[in-house]
Amino acid sequence: MVVIQRELRYLRYEIRLALYRMPVHSANFSTSSDEPLDRDLSPQPLDNSQELQENKLRPDVLDEYVGQSEIKRNLSVFMEASRKREEPLEHVLIHGPPGLGKTTLAHIVAKEMKANIRVTSGPALERQGDIAAIITNLEDGDVLFIDEIHRLRPIVEETLYTAMEDFAIDIILGKGASARSMRLSLPKFTLIGATTKLSLISSPLRDRFGHVFRLNFYSQEEIQQIINRSSKILETEIDEKAASRLSLSSRQTPRIANRLLRRVGDFALVNNHDVISESLVKSALGKMGIDELGLDDMDRKLLQLMIENFGGGPVGLSTLSAATHEEAQTIEDIYEPYLLKQGFLDRTPRGRLVTPRGYQHLGLTPPQNAELF
Ligand SMILES: Nc1ncnc2c1ncn2[C@@H]1O[C@H](COP(=O)(O)OP(=O)(O)O)[C@@H](O)[C@H]1O
Ligand SMILES: [Mg+2]
Repeated sequence: MVVIQRELRYLRYEIRLALYRMPVHSANFSTSSDEPLDRDLSPQPLDNSQELQENKLRPDVLDEYVGQSEIKRNLSVFMEASRKREEPLEHVLIHGPPGLGKTTLAHIVAKEMKANIRVTSGPALERQGDIAAIITNLEDGDVLFIDEIHRLRPIVEETLYTAMEDFAIDIILGKGASARSMRLSLPKFTLIGATTKLSLISSPLRDRFGHVFRLNFYSQEEIQQIINRSSKILETEIDEKAASRLSLSSRQTPRIANRLLRRVGDFALVNNHDVISESLVKSALGKMGIDELGLDDMDRKLLQLMIENFGGGPVGLSTLSAATHEEAQTIEDIYEPYLLKQGFLDRTPRGRLVTPRGYQHLGLTPPQNAELF
């Protein structure tokens, strides 16, 4: 008995220590493809100060969250049902490309459920003690938000399994032959996981989420609505045509729309314009090298290089990586998705290919023998 008490005391000490060492907010994402490039059109936050700016623009009730109507409709039903049952919401997994509103939605859910939210991220949870420290300190109904949940270590992930399913964790006390496993029960919490890479989530983890939501890219009208909303908060007035023009270049992504609005707002301020007009948007985007479909110099250079050096393709990813001095992963994760989505690029078994639409966007005539699409 005394031994167990001593071990428990030690465990509490370990948990406090781990808690103390925990980063307060998700940070330090370290793999190369997750690192934000210093690029206005990056869908990831560029630095911490930008992330703070973003908080100001985050809607905090579901009604103000623009678009994603099906998700909102379902979520409000599930939230109401769980309130009626006086039970916490089942665990929620939100996935989708960066900048579409995963973090925002997690905070909204916590707020609508009148719950406290605790924020962490996959890479920040290094040891079993890190996750144990957090969940043993939650209260009934609290929300635990784990960003980048696809980057959890296996040992941490396994701890989550019983925590999510049975609201308990098994802790090993002692070492070697005298080691014993002890089950600690946990408060009933809601885990909200966010990921940009659903395919990297193991099925045992995925199966433990009661709700899985996939965020979609936003329509031009929705992006325009977000721009108008943000302009009011930032007190930078923008007229209708200007907001419409800006929404075209925002890659259907709220984070990019908000960033471009701030940049264009800077041009307005410096040039003493009270209201952002369409011509100001055009000239500011022109100076930033961003065209009306949201491509920047880097995107155009990539297409141009493929056309000039490789006859428009097919060209393999590694060849492209050598020619651009960019890591293959960066090309694949950062540049290609939008070019593919816009139909400027095509992926074939023999490599990447510039489409006729890609040629036309650069003002070039596609070759006659171009592969048919
Ligand atoms: N549906 C939305 N309505 C209004 N603003 C949004 C919406 N989705 C995202 N935003 C804004 O875009 C920015 C990025 O959103 P965030 O939730 O951080 O994206 P993610 O976590 O998916 O990368 C935030 O500043 C947020 O205000
Ligand atoms: Mg996020």
